[in-house]
Amino acid sequence: MHPAFVHFPVALLSVTWGLVVFHHWTGSEAADRLVRPFELIGVGFLPVAVLTGIWDAEGFGFLVEREWDQPLIWHFIVSATASLVFAGHAYWRVRIREGTTGKWIDLALPTIGFWLLVVTGLIAAEMVFG
Ligand code: HEM
Repeated sequence: MHPAFVHFPVALLSVTWGLVVFHHWTGSEAADRLVRPFELIGVGFLPVAVLTGIWDAEGFGFLVEREWDQPLIWHFIVSATASLVFAGHAYWRVRIREGTTGKWIDLALPTIGFWLLVVTGLIAAEMVFG
C-alpha cells in the first residue's frame, strides 16, 4: 500500500519547493499563489503515507526494538522530520506570514523539507533494493 501512496506527497511537495524558489527568484505572484494548494494537498497526503508505512512495516515493532543499523528506523526519523517541516511551513504561510517579509523562513523550510524527502527516498531505495 505504502509505495502506491507515497508518490503523491513526494510529487506535490517537490513542486511546492520549486514554486517557492521560483517565486523568490523571479517575483512571480502566480507561483506564490500556487504554493498553498500544492502544499496543503501534499501535507494532507502525509498522514496517509505515514499510516500505510506503519502498516507495511507491520506495526510499531521497529520503534520498540530500534535497530539503529537498519534503514527502516532512519527512514521513519527522516520522513517524519520532513513531514513536520512541511506542515510547519504550511502553517506559517497560512497563519503567520501575513504582515512579515519572512523570505528566509519561506525559502529555508521547504528547502530543508525537500532534501529530507530526497534522503527518505534514498533510504527507501536501500530498503527495497538492498
Ligand atoms: C513514518 C512512517 C513510515 C514508515 C514506517 C515507512 C515504511 C516504509 C517501508 C516498510 C517501505 C518499504 C516498501 C514497503 O513495504 O512499503 C517504505 C518505502 C518507501 N517509503 Fe516509507 N515509511 C514511512 C513514511 C514515509 C514517508 C512520509 C514518505 C514520503 C513522503 C515515504 C517514502 C517512501 C518511499 C518513496 C518508499 C519507496 C516506495 C517504492 O518502493 O516505490 N515513507 N517505507
